[in-house]
Amino acid sequence: MAILLPGGAGYIGSHTAVELLNKGKEIIIIDNFSNSKPEVLDKIKEITGKDFKFYEMDYLDKEKLSKVFEENKIDSVINFAGFKAVGESVQKPLEYYINNISGCLVLLETMKKYGVKKFIFSSSATVYGDPETIPITEDSKTGGTTNPYGTTKLFIEQILKDLYKADNTWDICILRYFNPVGSHESGLIGEEPQGVPNNLMPYIARVAVGTLKELSIFGNDYDTEDGTGVRDYIHVVDLAKGHVCALDKLDKEGKGLYIYNLGTGKGYSVLDMVKAFEKATGKKVPYKIAPRREGDIATCYADPKKAKEELGWEATKTLEDMCRDSWRYIEKNS
Ligand code: UFG
Repeated sequence: MAILLPGGAGYIGSHTAVELLNKGKEIIIIDNFSNSKPEVLDKIKEITGKDFKFYEMDYLDKEKLSKVFEENKIDSVINFAGFKAVGESVQKPLEYYINNISGCLVLLETMKKYGVKKFIFSSSATVYGDPETIPITEDSKTGGTTNPYGTTKLFIEQILKDLYKADNTWDICILRYFNPVGSHESGLIGEEPQGVPNNLMPYIARVAVGTLKELSIFGNDYDTEDGTGVRDYIHVVDLAKGHVCALDKLDKEGKGLYIYNLGTGKGYSVLDMVKAFEKATGKKVPYKIAPRREGDIATCYADPKKAKEELGWEATKTLEDMCRDSWRYIEKNS
């Protein structure tokens, strides 16, 4: 029985594909390469020494998707497909709502048609909006998203809750990612943002390698220790392993809708990240203080206790690992 990974050639999808293959699982990837490259598939094979089936297609294509379910014995789906650039989502709300929400609906409808009811969804800490209390537990209030990207995650979570309420034979796991960074230690796969990166770590790495001149730190007047924004950065390999644990739980226990934060529980500021990166890589990261970025919050980090207790999962990689591995990928690939 295979696990279907829509968006499996992307940043988090490819790292999860590696972890699943390493555990001896059978996977099938579908991807339209809208934000990834075909070479990634070979790299996954190179890292794991394992093969898998691949379909180049859009997950909104109902007919093609049905064919994938007809041609294979699929047992579960982990959905990584979706647009994820916060700023772009403000400019292109319809594209985001259609791709992320309609795509997910087509996927769920097709799963239902073929009697496949085990589903893991890539959600985000963004669903908590501006959190009232820190650290954030899974019971913290959701809502108040500040951009269409975040709202797609919130809406899909609601759709999944409604679906489970109507038919509790579904096994659903919602994983709320905090800030994924780093890359596989081989340096073969990693984050490949198109154009100028929006996120901190890829931006820092490009400044260090010399493609970008300097980092703009968006605000140093937040109510945090050094005034810069605080986030819960998590190594993508730890995050990928979280999916394997979530799948194990659904396989063994099933019958439920589960929600987990995937974070480390530690918050680091933008200046902490700059310093840690410089220390881990020996590279200088010039920066300037710039105005706050619209929609940003001061502090966001997880209470990861529930995932530890119920999934037996916890992040083990350090900030140094995150910086070093991000750097290795950039150095190898630029
Ligand atoms: N930052 C800078 N300069 C930059 C980029 C970022 O100072 O060039 C700062 C931000 O202001 C923030 C921190 O670095 O304080 C992290 O910013 P990111 O853009 O890396 O990440 P965000 O926390 O804004 O957003 C990320 C993901 C979203 C997800 C969210 C969940 O990009 O997809 O985490 O909390 F929804």
